Amino acid sequence: QTIFRGKDFITLQEWTKEEIDTLLDVSFDLKRKFAMGIDTPYLKNKTAFLMFFEESTRTRNSMEAGIAQLGGHGNYLDTSTMQISHGEVAKDTAIILSRFGHAIACRNCFWGIGNKYLREMAEWSSAPILNLQCDLYHPMQGIADLMTIKEKVGDTKRLKVSIIWAYATTHKKPISVPVTQALLFPRYGIDVTLAYPEGYDLPDWVIKQSKENAEKHGGTFKITHNMEEAYRDAHVVIPKNWGSWVTNQSDEVVDDLLESYKTWKCTEKMMSIADKDVMYMHALPADRENEVENSVIDGPHSIIYDEAENRLHTAKAVMTLTMGGK
Ligand code: CP
Repeated sequence: QTIFRGKDFITLQEWTKEEIDTLLDVSFDLKRKFAMGIDTPYLKNKTAFLMFFEESTRTRNSMEAGIAQLGGHGNYLDTSTMQISHGEVAKDTAIILSRFGHAIACRNCFWGIGNKYLREMAEWSSAPILNLQCDLYHPMQGIADLMTIKEKVGDTKRLKVSIIWAYATTHKKPISVPVTQALLFPRYGIDVTLAYPEGYDLPDWVIKQSKENAEKHGGTFKITHNMEEAYRDAHVVIPKNWGSWVTNQSDEVVDDLLESYKTWKCTEKMMSIADKDVMYMHALPADRENEVENSVIDGPHSIIYDEAENRLHTAKAVMTLTMGGK
């Protein structure tokens, strides 16, 4: 039996399928109530600390607006103004904030540090740790993406969803979004195609786990370096840049690699070989005219604003389940 209260939300891989189903149910319920103007004071007088090591538009504001709508308080913390900037360790921060409030949510994308930092806090915090994006995972984005796909199509079995690398002007992008999607979608019977040019492999353990998830839940998982193959007959395309995470390469080498793949762009031509009702998704912010043509992201197949709105409903569901209950 699941006890949600106090449960960490660091990666969806550590939530069972049944737990994720409940999370989706609560998200849909909160979305309906929000639309109908029904109050949802499930976290009255509760506080979530929202620690941000990096910038954010969607994540910060979905959490702040979300907890206010649940009757609680979100305390935004720019970590550069905390004693962390003078070397205070994760253990001390976690113990103290968890004595003050009911959850510690944190965005820390630094490669090789972010997830480690969350895990260290989780070891010491008496309140749940909520991952607002680390170097490895972005579960808040992943659950909103899954909710969006489910609300558009209903049954996700045999749906061709392509996670496609796309060119962007900077190489400093985390792998957390494609990793989260690659692990999660096969658990919902989705046929996942992961497409990227040479040099942008995701870690081996991600591929292994994604394939195991597919085998267990009736989805499929395949990799291609052929962009057209990923677009062909796809029902959902998610073209987005991610960085080459191989750490022993210099910035110059990574920049040269990036510049050689400018053709990896979501164009109207590519969209024309997908299913006629194909949906275009992106976690945002998008690198317009590099990752994607404006006519696609602003076109009839784009569902980016529905996807972004669902960040609110799913963030509220995560907080309700992990911080609420009796
Ligand atoms: N998708 C996403 O996490 O957006 P922000 O960086 O604006 O939070």
